[in-house]
Amino acid sequence: MSKTIPTLLCSLLICSAAFAQGDNATAGTPSVHTQATFLENGNKIRIRGIGLKQQAKIFFIGDTHFAFADPRDDAYRDNYKRMAQYQAPANALDKLLERAKKGGDLVIFGGDIISFPSQANIDFFLGKAQSLSIPWVYTSGNHDWHFEGMPGSETEIRDAWSHGVMAPMYQGENPMMAVREFKGIKVILIDNGTNQILPEQLEFFKKEIADGKPALLAMHIPLYVSGRGLDFGCGHPDWNAAHDPHYEIERRERWLEAGHTQTTLDFCQAVWNAPNLLGILAGHTHIRSTDFYKGKFQLVAPRGAEGEYLEITIE
Ligand SMILES: [Fe+2]
Repeated sequence: MSKTIPTLLCSLLICSAAFAQGDNATAGTPSVHTQATFLENGNKIRIRGIGLKQQAKIFFIGDTHFAFADPRDDAYRDNYKRMAQYQAPANALDKLLERAKKGGDLVIFGGDIISFPSQANIDFFLGKAQSLSIPWVYTSGNHDWHFEGMPGSETEIRDAWSHGVMAPMYQGENPMMAVREFKGIKVILIDNGTNQILPEQLEFFKKEIADGKPALLAMHIPLYVSGRGLDFGCGHPDWNAAHDPHYEIERRERWLEAGHTQTTLDFCQAVWNAPNLLGILAGHTHIRSTDFYKGKFQLVAPRGAEGEYLEITIE
């Protein structure tokens, strides 16, 4: 069962019932948030009652879609020209950077921060991120590593760029999966920019979630929730070649004929059934939304290109 709350209808949402009582997926295992309260006021979210000793504050931003290029990127002109038409304002991160100066524990850059891996984009992002006074982490979306029309599968292309010129964006972490722990909270980062999950990512998630600590999962593409469209593509039952009208325009590998791999479906199940997972932070749709499923929230951030971000306070 899911509980979908249209953002436009609730400027302030206090939801203790669904959040508190929903997690019964793992019989006999109490959820860490069985007594928690979830309060939403626009892009500000407060979570109370999970027993942290100190307050923790996390910022999540996605989909800034910077599209800078300079002469160093000339070899890829044909590969970036379409997405360069949608250049985001250069000040899209400034509101967040200003806010972070006033305190916070972590900034999560949640994918589609850049629209293609030009050297100009990477340098621009790193300049902004490295000016932050608090720690930051980055996970990729479906665009960050995507120069349109490159040969190879999406997985091969992602591997090449994320381990190549984009490597500094991950600050030495594995681009596919990482974890950052602070104040008793684990933030697990998984790159699902292909809409699919790799076997090593599923194993990583299972291992990291198994210690029972309160955790958040940050990914670019939201997990499928009943009633949501294909932009909630990770685990969506209609995600397959027959429902992929954009692969020619985006000049990328077509979605699989048979749909999601069993690994991706197993990952979705492991996420929704994890008793200590508080919820999921995602982007990709460019539309702010909140869903509840199995006692967990899935927060989708608004479009970062407009300077918006999520501010999550865990009290
Ligand atoms: Fe995206």
